[in-house]
Amino acid sequence: MKNQNLNQNAIGVFDSGLGGLTAVKELNRILPQENIIFFGDTARVPYGTRSRKTILRYTREDIAILRQHPVKMIIAACGTVSSALGTDSPVEEEMPFTGVVYPAARTACRITKNRHIGVIGTPATIRSGGYVEALHAIDPEITVTAMACPLLVHLVEYGYTNRDNPITRLAAEEYLMPIKNAGADTLIMGCTHYPIIRDIIADIMGQDVQLISAGEEAAKFARDCLAQRGLLTDRAEPGHNIYYVSDSEESFRENAKHFLPDAAHGQVFSIHI
Ligand code: DGL
Repeated sequence: MKNQNLNQNAIGVFDSGLGGLTAVKELNRILPQENIIFFGDTARVPYGTRSRKTILRYTREDIAILRQHPVKMIIAACGTVSSALGTDSPVEEEMPFTGVVYPAARTACRITKNRHIGVIGTPATIRSGGYVEALHAIDPEITVTAMACPLLVHLVEYGYTNRDNPITRLAAEEYLMPIKNAGADTLIMGCTHYPIIRDIIADIMGQDVQLISAGEEAAKFARDCLAQRGLLTDRAEPGHNIYYVSDSEESFRENAKHFLPDAAHGQVFSIHI
C-alpha cells in the first residue's frame, strides 16, 4: 500500500482571496471524502493589479503556507497566479499541481459550437495572454475575445454580490457587452471570484452563452489527476475543510457566508504572512 498515508493527506487550495472558494465548493461536491486546506491571502488581495514579479513572489509564499500542512496536491485557484505561472509548475514534479487556466481552456474548446470564446479576467491575467495561449494551443482556429475587468474582484470582496446589485450589474455590463456583441457562445470566467456573481453575468450574457467557472474546472481536473496517480482517499466518512486567511477571520466569514456556508461556520484561522 505504497501511497496509503499520502492518500489521506488534504488537497491544498489557495487564492488571493475568496474566489478560490469556488474551487473548494466544487471539490466538496465531487470529492466529499477529501480534506481540504484552503489559504486565502485576504490581506494582500487583489493580486490582479500587481506586477508579474510580485504575483510570483506571493505565489511562492502562499504555497509555503500550504506546505506547512500535509498536502498531496496543490491547486492555484486563482486565474491571476495561474496566468503568471504560464506552463511552469511552482512545485517539484512529484507534487501534483494545477492552476485554473488549462482546465478551463480545455472545457471551453470542448463545448463551444461557433469556436468563439470570451474570456474575462483581472488586468494581470488578460495582459499575460495566458488564456489565449492555452486556447490556441488546444485549437489554433479558435477566436478569442478577452476583456480585463478591474473592478469585479473588489465588488465581490466587498460583498456586492446579490443579483440585483446595481453597481455590480453596471460594471459587469461595461465589461461583458463587447464580448456578447462580438458573438462568443462560451465565456470563461477566468478569475475565480467571478462565479460568485454568476447570476449577474448570466443575465447579461443571455441563455445562449455557456459560462465556464475556472475554479470548478480546476477542481474536476484535480480529481482526475489524483485518480490517475492513485491518490484519492479511501476514507468512508466525509472530509472537512480548514480555512486559513491572512486578514481577519470575521471579514472572511462575513463575505463567504453567501455562497459557501461551510466556510462561514467552519474552522477559520487568521495567520500572519
Ligand atoms: N481569484 C483571483 C483570480 O482568479 C483574484 C484576482 C485578484 O486577486 O486580483 O484572478
